[in-house]
Amino acid sequence: MNHLIQETLFDLTTVTKLTARRRNVLRSPKQHGNADEDARPYLAELGQELISAPQAIQFQPNTSEPVHRWSPYVQGFSAGFVQRTLERYRHEYERPVVLDPFAGSGTVLVQAKMNGLPSWGIELNPLLQFVGRVKVNSWKTPIERLIEVANQVLNSQTLTDAPPFLKSETQFRPKVLLHLRRLKGGIDAFHPADEVDSQIKDLLLLAFASILVDSSNLKRAPCLGYAPTKIVGDDVPLRLFSQKVRQIADDLSFCQSRLATYLDTPAEVLLGNSMQVRPDTLCDLIITSPPYMNGLDYVMNYKIEMAWLGFGQSHRDLKYLKDQMVVCDNVSKSLIRSFEEAQPYTNSWLETIKEQIALHIQRRGTYRRQDMPSIVHKYFDDMYRVMRNVVEILRPGGRFILVVGDSLIADVYVPTDLILARIGQELGLQIERLEKARERRSGQVRSYRLRETVVTLRKDS
Ligand SMILES: C[S@@+](CC[C@H](N)C(=O)[O-])C[C@H]1O[C@@H](n2cnc3c(N)ncnc32)[C@H](O)[C@@H]1O
Repeated sequence: MNHLIQETLFDLTTVTKLTARRRNVLRSPKQHGNADEDARPYLAELGQELISAPQAIQFQPNTSEPVHRWSPYVQGFSAGFVQRTLERYRHEYERPVVLDPFAGSGTVLVQAKMNGLPSWGIELNPLLQFVGRVKVNSWKTPIERLIEVANQVLNSQTLTDAPPFLKSETQFRPKVLLHLRRLKGGIDAFHPADEVDSQIKDLLLLAFASILVDSSNLKRAPCLGYAPTKIVGDDVPLRLFSQKVRQIADDLSFCQSRLATYLDTPAEVLLGNSMQVRPDTLCDLIITSPPYMNGLDYVMNYKIEMAWLGFGQSHRDLKYLKDQMVVCDNVSKSLIRSFEEAQPYTNSWLETIKEQIALHIQRRGTYRRQDMPSIVHKYFDDMYRVMRNVVEILRPGGRFILVVGDSLIADVYVPTDLILARIGQELGLQIERLEKARERRSGQVRSYRLRETVVTLRKDS
């Protein structure tokens, strides 16, 4: 097929307008390839098979699910997947304790609570930790009082300044910005007298954060960027805020009536780095979706909400936080340089993959990051640290279930799922099952088929 494309469509050497990147993509030996083929040697070495188990694992369906829909942060995974996983395994344990070391917006914890199961989360981004915490700890909030305070906020004339380090005048139209400053001013002017009022304030802040991008000239698709054709009406913030508060009120009513017996089920999201932080209790089911290797920047993508809610006062703050996260591919070069001097985790697969990536980058002559081999290495070192940390509190017989996607980097296939399964083995877990949940296209070579896998690891009883 490669040959065919080159001969019949165009002669690449004469198409001078092609960028170097595009040329490399068109010449890629991975055109029309697929991950399942490239993963075979790794699977053989693990002595495992990849089971086909198509299922919905993305966040999208959550946008119509009670409580999950409070926050529009698309990188989560589906509540339905968490539910199926809980149903599959919960009866093997006596009231299992659930943990998500990459809690994000709290999908696992919300779903565990909806099943009356105690849960823990760990999350490093303070905005997401806040969102997850509010989603699990506000179910008893009196609905009438919430509406009453929301109305005060909607009628408020107090103005709060937009975050000084953001380009708010470019991000929002002038009247929209004024409404947002008023809404935030109204929330800031509400001083909670007790625990109930504190929960109400948190819910209103969550509602406010959730409407910011929709009210802006930006879109998250999934990375944050300007949307030149988007037109936002002046009163959009007021309408969206009212709608969101109504939605929260409806869901609280659902929880208070249909889930009344679970209102006090404990759920806690720890703010911290899951390479070091963990609950001081044993867990039975770790269910998680880690950052994907060539995926998103979980700080810059949320900078608008973080800044407006006071979770970042400067770009410097955000960069500092980003450097603590499991690495993504636009991490700072200095962080990667200092990583290269450390003594990281490694294994034979990683060493070969790194060498291949370095060779391919050299062959291409240009690549967006020359230090890509070390970025890939750091990703697995970070993941090793997280897994080592939380496996310590996994009860014997407990399961560690990861949903993760693989990658194609500089024409080298990186079987993230299988490398994490191997790390699990090295940490004393058994590989119980590897299920291919769905196919996805590579961002670089669109005709190459990657996959998303559910990796189930188990600690011996
Ligand atoms: C794929 S998202 C998880 C989404 C989550 N399952 C949900 O449904 O919202 C990965 C999360 O890991 C967090 N994260 C990245 N590195 C971390 C670290 N070292 N410690 C704790 N959380 C981290 C990111 O901020 C992000 O929220």
